[in-house]
Amino acid sequence: MIPLEQIEAAAEMIRQGRLVAFPTETVYGLGANALNAAAVARIYEAKGRPAQSPLIVHVASVEMAREVAAAWPQAAGTLAGRYWPGPLTLVLPKRPAVPDIVTAGLGTVGIRVPAHPVALELIRLAGVPIAAPSANRFSGLSPTTAEHVRESLGDAVDLILDGGATDVGIESTVLSLAGPRPVLMRPGMVSRREIEELVGPIEIAAAAGDGPHAAPGMHRKHYSPRTRLLLVEGGAVPERGTGAYAGMGGEPAGPVARLVRMPRDPAGYAAALYETLHRLDREGLDWIAVERPPEGPEWAAILDRLERAAG
Ligand code: TXA
Ligand code: MG
Repeated sequence: MIPLEQIEAAAEMIRQGRLVAFPTETVYGLGANALNAAAVARIYEAKGRPAQSPLIVHVASVEMAREVAAAWPQAAGTLAGRYWPGPLTLVLPKRPAVPDIVTAGLGTVGIRVPAHPVALELIRLAGVPIAAPSANRFSGLSPTTAEHVRESLGDAVDLILDGGATDVGIESTVLSLAGPRPVLMRPGMVSRREIEELVGPIEIAAAAGDGPHAAPGMHRKHYSPRTRLLLVEGGAVPERGTGAYAGMGGEPAGPVARLVRMPRDPAGYAAALYETLHRLDREGLDWIAVERPPEGPEWAAILDRLERAAG
């Protein structure tokens, strides 16, 4: 899809300390050479991201992960064996070669191997690990297309590799293996249950507030459209203003300007979620009412993102 020469040029830019936005299977990332502190500083600047939010380091193999991590516990081997490449980030003690700016001064680093051919080729050709948060302005909706990246970051990024729409659609699961027991820092489409089947019971990070504790970077107001988003039940919609209703089955109980039918399966729903919110956000509506998804572990990550978007 993307010519190899273009990925080669992008890899050269990464080596030169510039910023390249690239597709992963989850969302688009805003990448820089993870071993170059000045390059990584440009990521924070482009995003308007606070310095206390650590970045995820993307690698092309377990071997490369072990050059970044100072320890490789058995659970890391088990989980990487099953889910890499894929939407699972493992937090591990970091090696000194990883600059403090990447990890917001923490002694640990989040690492994953993305399951996208363009991302993998980019990392291999660059020959260095790539630090990349989602390629959007801080606290906005994550981008699932190159167009979303352009709208959010514009000239702040040196190059955007356009790999089409991402297929998982929401950010990776983040699991810390840096302490005595595994801790889920951010839910994702690799579910708690799937992880526990492989490595036993895990803990859930204390509901991330705005403090510097528990899950760094998991600010309450995150992943938000500009339009007011409401999480509703039984089709309840505001009486005032013009809005949209996004539901899986139920009808809105009042008039709406837009009716969006969301997929009924979690994978399909996640893949459509940000694209739908980006689209509705452009329409100048007063509100977006989203039907609360069902309870259950396979919906946990989607509910988490919706609750954050609703603030
Ligand atoms: O799917 C994804 O993870 C995407 C793609 C681009 O890979 N990236 C992404 O990055 O969502 P970002 O920066 O938007 O979110 C990274 C989150 C942080 O907010 C934080 O919660 C967690 O990962 N994280 C990273 N390093 C950590 C660390 N050392 N300790 C605890 N949590 C960490
Ligand atoms: Mg983000």
